[in-house]
Amino acid sequence: MDTFDSPIDIVWRTGKVAVLADLHYDSYSITGTEPFASHGLDRCLPWSELDALIIAGDLANAPFTNWSAAFAYLRRFMAPSRTIIFPGNHDYYAACLNADDELEKLADAAGVHFAQQRELRHGNDRYFCTTLWTNFALLGDAQAAMNMALRHMNDYAQISKRLETGPLSPSELLGRPLQVAITPEDIQALHKAQRRWLEDQLAEPHWVPNGRSFVVTHHGPHPDAAGQIDGLTPAFHSDLTPLLNRFKIDGWYFGHSHRRLAAHVGSTVVRNVSIGFPYEKHGSEELPLEELCLVPMPNASVTSRR
Ligand SMILES: [Fe+2]
Repeated sequence: MDTFDSPIDIVWRTGKVAVLADLHYDSYSITGTEPFASHGLDRCLPWSELDALIIAGDLANAPFTNWSAAFAYLRRFMAPSRTIIFPGNHDYYAACLNADDELEKLADAAGVHFAQQRELRHGNDRYFCTTLWTNFALLGDAQAAMNMALRHMNDYAQISKRLETGPLSPSELLGRPLQVAITPEDIQALHKAQRRWLEDQLAEPHWVPNGRSFVVTHHGPHPDAAGQIDGLTPAFHSDLTPLLNRFKIDGWYFGHSHRRLAAHVGSTVVRNVSIGFPYEKHGSEELPLEELCLVPMPNASVTSRR
């Protein structure tokens, strides 16, 4: 199994990389459909030419039940050794928020790279991957947003957290809960930790002066790519304008809100690359996913083989 700290090296063949989120494989499976075919991606994407497919969360609910079949599905399109995944909120359903080690074992068993708080390296490109949960502060009143999320989001009924009990005897453990439901405060704390990791990574100099840096998250980084905003939007997106202005980021890919929108924030294009649920309608303002999800090729002058 890979260690959390070491970068994942993606072998350079063609230079082509696709980033997709929100396959929700189990939702398609129960309707007898498939996520790629339902959106024309099975035909539109250059599967045999892709060096890597990055799944930015929400592969399936209940990973211990559903990830294995989802990985078998992905294997029809991409070699596991060129498939990279990190969890979205749904990938923690019927699982624990603080048990990424167990999700990594599932990915590892399928030969897929697990990239929670991991760097990917490909040619002169680096990708920083993390769920990057929300800070709830998009509309200013984080407490109101947390209250709204607690009332309306399934996450707080479906996701648990392991309780750290320390060294206790069997009699002391008897009757003591080993896990409880998560709270919005847990999510806010995880946002801070994952954001700190991301900022530390972006602050590290690139190994070549003209190399590119990409960020891949499940949650959204900016309201301009959020679509219509309401009281629940802060549960899906943060406003990370200061971070976007502070660092040179060549592209930011995310999912979660299932709205295939893009926006320029300073010099960075942020792109939602959600497939979304089988029954969802996509508005006329949304962009073609088969174009959004392909990382632009670097200029020939900065491309090198590593
Ligand atoms: Fe999703």
